[in-house]
Amino acid sequence: MQVFTRVQEMQEWSLQQKRLGKKIGLVPTMGYLHDGHLSLVRRAKAECDVVIVSIFVNPLQFGVGEDYEEYPRDLTRDAALLEKEGVEATFAPSVKEMYPQGYSTTVEVGGEITAKLCGKSRPGHFKGVTTVVSKLFNICLPEVAYFGQKDAQQAMIIEKMVRELNFPLRIVRGPIVRESDGLAMSSRNVYLNEEERKSALVLSQALGLARELIENGETSVGKVKEAMINLINSKPFTDIDYVEIYNGEDLSDLAEIKGKVLVALAVRVGKTRLIDNLLLEV
Ligand code: PAJ
Repeated sequence: MQVFTRVQEMQEWSLQQKRLGKKIGLVPTMGYLHDGHLSLVRRAKAECDVVIVSIFVNPLQFGVGEDYEEYPRDLTRDAALLEKEGVEATFAPSVKEMYPQGYSTTVEVGGEITAKLCGKSRPGHFKGVTTVVSKLFNICLPEVAYFGQKDAQQAMIIEKMVRELNFPLRIVRGPIVRESDGLAMSSRNVYLNEEERKSALVLSQALGLARELIENGETSVGKVKEAMINLINSKPFTDIDYVEIYNGEDLSDLAEIKGKVLVALAVRVGKTRLIDNLLLEV
């Protein structure tokens, strides 16, 4: 596996692969890899000729007071995992390489889709994401880029950006990978102590409850949200950021639970902010 740290070298390698007629798959990550990331890598390996995994903790998508400094990093371990998966190239640039002195260009998707959920609680976050992802697309030149349903809103926003800015590539979404007890895998789970780890289970439990209510015919957004909120508040160390149910295509408001529906939540457990979601066809 080749490890690139320079933009120009990564882009030249990608151009060379394209000249050879190779289909490039890209899996953008912030590293500290787990099975959620690796499920996307495996899908990319199965569907493409060569796979690039980018590892970059992107300062632009972290707000003031968020965990940019503490975010877990272990490039040696990540590279060993990717080597084992047969990945052809890793792109792990420095912050200065991605955003040199004087850097001032951003890419921003407007509208409802970025104003709700994490866009509301983390102002500027998605602008940071779409900016870095645009750069990664231009540097790595993928035919297919892989994103996880774990970050459903992020995937929807990137799909919209790709459509509207005519990036010549396709987005593939992979399903949420969970621990055996239901907790969605996340690099941030390492922040949880033993007690918090127990409480963190309530995110997937609240989604399970929502699914059960909806499958039993509940169509009221308010009632399902209320049941979820009550369950979450019954556990120690939890502090709800949001519990929402929106249209699963474009995050528009729903008069009732019908069609493609996204149930999404963000909960602080201790100091750790966790997200999870459920996409349903009713
Ligand atoms: P990161 O949180 O490292 O996630 C990288 C990719 O892995 C994302 O597409 C995310 O949705 C996916 N992923 C994370 N946990 C998952 C899980 N449990 N199951 C399935 N997929 C999972 O998301 C980012 O990084 C960044 O915002 C990035 C897109 C790289 C831009 O900086």
